[in-house]
Amino acid sequence: MISYARQNPDSDAAADPAAENEHIAPAPRISVQAFCETVETAAAVQTAGEDRRLAKAHLKIQMGGMVAAVEAYKNAPTPNVIVLETDGRGDILAGLDHLSGVCDAGTRVIVIGRVNDVTLYRELVKRGVSEYVIAPVTVIDVVRAICGLFSMPEAKPVGRVIAVVGTKGGVGASTVAHNVAWSIARELALDSVVADLDLAFGTAGLDYNQDPPQGIADAVFSPDRIDTAFIDRLLSKCTDHLSLLAAPATLDRVYDFGDEAFDSIFDTLRSSVPCIVLDVPHQWSGWTKRALVAADDILMVAEPDLANLRNTKNLFDLLKAQRPNDRAPLYCLNKVGVPKRPEIKAAEFAKAIEGDPAAIIPFEPQLFGLAANNGQMIEEIASKHKTSELFLQIAQRLTGRAEAKKPRNSLLPPLLGKLLSK
Ligand SMILES: Nc1ncnc2c1ncn2[C@@H]1O[C@H](COP(=O)(O)OP(=O)(O)OP(=O)(O)O)[C@@H](O)[C@H]1O
Ligand SMILES: [Mg+2]
Repeated sequence: MISYARQNPDSDAAADPAAENEHIAPAPRISVQAFCETVETAAAVQTAGEDRRLAKAHLKIQMGGMVAAVEAYKNAPTPNVIVLETDGRGDILAGLDHLSGVCDAGTRVIVIGRVNDVTLYRELVKRGVSEYVIAPVTVIDVVRAICGLFSMPEAKPVGRVIAVVGTKGGVGASTVAHNVAWSIARELALDSVVADLDLAFGTAGLDYNQDPPQGIADAVFSPDRIDTAFIDRLLSKCTDHLSLLAAPATLDRVYDFGDEAFDSIFDTLRSSVPCIVLDVPHQWSGWTKRALVAADDILMVAEPDLANLRNTKNLFDLLKAQRPNDRAPLYCLNKVGVPKRPEIKAAEFAKAIEGDPAAIIPFEPQLFGLAANNGQMIEEIASKHKTSELFLQIAQRLTGRAEAKKPRNSLLPPLLGKLLSK
């Protein structure tokens, strides 16, 4: 049950969550109660509660640390998670012993403390503490600690959701999504699913040359049946590592959905597939916004014109504001260099969006036209082509697979942590 203690990341990464391409899986519907000693920690926990990954969790915060916790649970049941801050003055071990007498089975305890001492960790571990985090804690430390309890290595693998959206219709968002997913599956060998969310007009089936009898509509219209086995049956296999949850692309019914219509589909996919690429149609509705805000990473696809620039900036600002603890959305420019078309330069985009595009994909009507009409990926037609490289580059940026991983600022090396837990 125990993991190893962690120190808050260095101040750079803490100030700029974008610097870390760290995957923290969202926590399930749990109750969390925090007993803080300092206002700084209380503020960090409070803000963490607003993070998208804790959206389903119910969080209650109060001051008073261990004393308040012991008092609170004298007669009340304990929640799924207790976060306890200790300022090191009181006897934390005695407090924990006391608490363990009233803790319900299954309640996990995270301790936030100031003492950096291995003997203390051992004692905490002995008492079943799940995580020890050294104060001062950042918002993301708290998010990581709570979510981490539910995505331990022995728990189910938890997938990363990448949402791809066009900043205007027809910019090539689906084409980019499908090619990038192909790269993730083929070049990075990561099991992936493309979910085509454009139910009426989606092209993923055409692009991968698949015509499955079932797909995403079967799931979204039968919410009661959704589980891993059911979703598995709806997937059609494109390559070794790539499967498709296809759109029906039929018009016999209309596709108006509630905000949460896709939640259980995404949750189910997350529980069994390492990488989920959402082909999000260019529309602004409750469920598309929700899919973007809740994704682990976002890729916006834009053509280099004024309307795209404005929309990219608006989307970027909104998503950044709603995801303050996440890496900023990525964007790429597509169809760059259409003959005779005046275009807005990448540098202008970079200025407005405060970041360079993840890739600049040239306009190549012959190559893309052939791929689309053949139901093939660019890489299948022209594997050595520069554009195939670009898709791989985006895949690497999104998954963080090629980037050399920064060693985490761990207090105990993982091996020692494991030994301790035995
Ligand atoms: N770099 C490119 N060069 C030339 N053609 C391209 C390029 N990228 C995409 N296309 C073509 O542009 C067309 C539109 O692409 P796609 O359907 O992927 O766009 P979309 O943004 O998903 O559109 P929608 O808003 O309908 O979902 C397709 O015919 C595709 O082959
Ligand atoms: Mg599309």
